[in-house]
Amino acid sequence: MFKAVLFDLDGVITDTAEYHYLAWKALTEELGIQGLDRAFNEQLKGVSRDDSLRKILALGNVVVSDEEFARLANRKNDNYVDMIQKVTPADVYPGILPLLGDLKAAGIKIALASASKNGSFLLQQMGLTEYFDAIADPAKVAASKPAPDIFLVAAEQVGVPITEAIGIEDAFAGITAIKAAGALPIGVGRAEDLGEDIALVPDTSQLSLAYLKEVWSSK
Ligand code: BG6
Ligand code: MG
Repeated sequence: MFKAVLFDLDGVITDTAEYHYLAWKALTEELGIQGLDRAFNEQLKGVSRDDSLRKILALGNVVVSDEEFARLANRKNDNYVDMIQKVTPADVYPGILPLLGDLKAAGIKIALASASKNGSFLLQQMGLTEYFDAIADPAKVAASKPAPDIFLVAAEQVGVPITEAIGIEDAFAGITAIKAAGALPIGVGRAEDLGEDIALVPDTSQLSLAYLKEVWSSK
């Protein structure tokens, strides 16, 4: 049996993937950059703030100084942070709260493996902090998703070998990171975005301890 579940946050625990998209979209409109549509946004999901900005600037063939780069990244984050002030426990995606409760009751460790520096704040906003045995700090990992680092750190923080952990992700970069780490991936989303070769649920209402056990036993 698996001993830990390593959760992505944005797009898995709640709908903040949408807020990231809206905040980046607003920034591109200010900069006059065309082409940040939902298809391009799939490339930004799971990707760190700085890496996302690099991809967006490359999309618009825009080159900026380091100072301007930092200013733009802060500007997007300020806008995003404004948006997430209104997140409440009612925004936790369907199925997540019962899953967290069942994992806890079963003694399975729960860790956050989000690329977001706003992860701890969001868990608090949603009233979920007490469920988490560890929150891996993305500011302290050398390489961000699709590199495996954040999942390796999350598993280490709960004292579980990575090969005995399940990772849950809504982003291609995140699924790649879980595979590279050596955990078992479960994707939330579509095969065309996340791949044909992993267990997938269309949305979080389909996630349950029973489903995780089924995926684990068929690996
Ligand atoms: C990930 C999101 O969880 O966190 C990305 O999927 C985001 O869209 C990344 O860029 C970093 O988040 P933040 O809140 O630190 O800018
Ligand atoms: Mg995500």
